[in-house]
Amino acid sequence: MKPLPDWDALSFSLTETDAIWVCRGDTRRDPVWDAGTLRPFEDLAISVASPALSYGLGIFEGMKAQRAPDGTILLFRPDRNAERFRKSAERLTLAPFPEARFIEAVKETVRANARFVPPHGRGTFYVRPVEWASEARLGLGMVNGFTVAMYGSPVGGYFKVGGAPGLRLLVKEQGRVAPGGTGWAKAAGNYAGGILVSAEAKKQGFDDVLYLDARHVRFVTETSGSNVFCALRNGTLVTPPLDDQILPGVTRLSAIEVARSLGMRVEERPIGIDEVVADGAGLFATGTAYTLARIHSVTLRGKETSFPDDTARAAIFEIIRGIQNGTREDTFGWTVPVDQTRRA
Ligand SMILES: Cc1ncc(COP(=O)(O)O)c(C=O)c1O
Repeated sequence: MKPLPDWDALSFSLTETDAIWVCRGDTRRDPVWDAGTLRPFEDLAISVASPALSYGLGIFEGMKAQRAPDGTILLFRPDRNAERFRKSAERLTLAPFPEARFIEAVKETVRANARFVPPHGRGTFYVRPVEWASEARLGLGMVNGFTVAMYGSPVGGYFKVGGAPGLRLLVKEQGRVAPGGTGWAKAAGNYAGGILVSAEAKKQGFDDVLYLDARHVRFVTETSGSNVFCALRNGTLVTPPLDDQILPGVTRLSAIEVARSLGMRVEERPIGIDEVVADGAGLFATGTAYTLARIHSVTLRGKETSFPDDTARAAIFEIIRGIQNGTREDTFGWTVPVDQTRRA
């Protein structure tokens, strides 16, 4: 049994837990996937010729389990992650993992690590499903053998709370992903190149970067790991439309639905950085790890613009957070409880 962390010192970092879940698949077999097993948190063997290592044939997901005040563990819209995991797999020529089995495996992973799900209000349990091509192959092409694995970690906030009320973003006049590429999928390779970009921005005192679109280098797309929303001075909430460069965020979708339920006007349309700077009153980032994070300012070509109006974000976040942590009635039907009695 692994040691429990200090619940009051959690950050967004890995704590090894008791168990991981591993499943092997081969598209030449029927059924493709084996039953999957829980194993201790340990290294897995991988062929040196796995195309995951050479060609980036890997995808992942990220979702959270939270404890309600009565101790129940709640997942948030796991069906959306299951669907995105399948679509990401199809884009990367990995075998799609059945959505119902994905949800069951997430529950099994959480259940096996239930003592690592922080007490209500003191953190969350982040679940990381991954899939990679595990068959050895030299040339670039499709393979048949795959591994799906799931692990999790208790986590705290994604960002250290800094001085400014919200994140300070550096606008990068470049795309996060290529036009026509894999940006809409949760492909491992989408993230590799951005680590240096974020690290350099952090060295300059920024919390994160804001990427523009790769075709026109004009429209706002995403930060390194979240979608973005801009509340205009006229009250309209704008977020970039889903396209080849935008990840279909579960938090993004939920924020749109909650905003509309509150009577806000929401537009999914391209929004230029010039419009954000000229007409933006409030700006925020949405994601599983980021939650709904206020953006204090964006800096473009050395000029910082700040966004003082936090009303829309605060109203939407209040509702989403309450549903996620079980303190508010789930009128949307988004949460899924994890049965905590272990199966024999
Ligand atoms: C690039 C990128 N955009 C957006 C998101 C937000 O997606 P979600 O709300 O499903 O976590 C994430 C995080 O998963 C991400 O990595």
